[in-house]
Amino acid sequence: MPEKITLTVIKADIGGWVGHSSVHPRLIETARKTLAESDLLVDFHVTHVGDDINLIMTHRRGVDSPEIHHLAWNTFLRCTEVAREMKLYGAGQDLLSDAFSGNVRGMGPGVAEMEFEERKSEPVIIFMADKTEPGAWNFPLYKMFADPFNTIGLVIDPKMHQGFRFEVYDLIENKRVIFSLPEEMYDLLVFIGAPGRYCVKAVYSKATGEIAAVSSTQRLNFLAGRYVGKDDPVCIVRCQSGLPAVGEALEPFAHPHLVAGWMRGSHMGPLMPVSLAQATPTRFDGPPRVVALGFQLANGKLIGPQDLFADVAFDQARRIANEIASYLRQLGPFEPHRLPLEDMEYTTLPEVMARIKHRFTKITPGAEKEVAAAREELGAK
Ligand code: F6R
Ligand code: MG
Ligand code: MG
Repeated sequence: MPEKITLTVIKADIGGWVGHSSVHPRLIETARKTLAESDLLVDFHVTHVGDDINLIMTHRRGVDSPEIHHLAWNTFLRCTEVAREMKLYGAGQDLLSDAFSGNVRGMGPGVAEMEFEERKSEPVIIFMADKTEPGAWNFPLYKMFADPFNTIGLVIDPKMHQGFRFEVYDLIENKRVIFSLPEEMYDLLVFIGAPGRYCVKAVYSKATGEIAAVSSTQRLNFLAGRYVGKDDPVCIVRCQSGLPAVGEALEPFAHPHLVAGWMRGSHMGPLMPVSLAQATPTRFDGPPRVVALGFQLANGKLIGPQDLFADVAFDQARRIANEIASYLRQLGPFEPHRLPLEDMEYTTLPEVMARIKHRFTKITPGAEKEVAAAREELGAK
């Protein structure tokens, strides 16, 4: 049996340049140097989207390998030293723990990884987003693997016609459930239509049982027990021959959907597909954006990348995203631009509520005297 390959993407924000907009080239250099010194990897590619460094690695050690996770952790630590030296913004912000304990899951960095037997030809796309959360992949993964209006292969490719299995995580209760599509399409949508809680973790081909897609899932803001920002997600999608064609995997992003994140992780905004050169969110710290890097794997070697959203065919999506962004911005602090109160719990709401709480009085008929007294009290201040 041919040896399996593992494709691991681990990302972290360990210091922004400037503010939360980008990554300083010295950090990228440091990460490249650190990975190059290791003999654990078959190949690697280091890049960044917004203020997040992405380590794209191939190796033979399977998913959740302590050695590989440790290597990523040490790489981020070394980058953090450089970030501190330059006083970059939020240096080390995603390294929530002081000591590595075998696995980066739950420690701050985001992880998406899959192990598989490399096919005769193995095209993969790494999607990387900034200023949003893992649930941002729900809509595009649904379109890619379940919507024949997006993916005609579901209708005409015999290897896709049976459909796909969707593994969904409940990020709040830490549970998983698997749906078989197309039969359970409506059941699936009940859950993944709420991307702040339910998140597509992985997709499997029903024809072959093989993994087709995997996403990163942790919600950093809950993880830390306090608000530390949305954990900008990554997602790996294998393409072609029984899986969505590259163009079918990219197509959902031609219609920018609304995602949570953007400024202070507290706003809805359009997910704008961009090239690497445009992956620097600045307007109101956004709008949220996504990059797609394509690689052909050749015995674990990463042949690429192809900067897939650099195509002029996505100019229209960018124009629409910018229009949606301008429209939403006019709402300022009002929902649905600002996230609902539940999501503000991790910011100022509890403080403001604690201060104002005693001024809330029951609305009862004939309480005018109390209302007048409350008004007077305010006037006297
Ligand atoms: C969103 C994000 C930024 C920051 C904002 C405030 O994910 O990273 O929008 O939330 O720039 O940052 P602080 O609180 O560090 O001043
Ligand atoms: Mg940041
Ligand atoms: Mg980020």
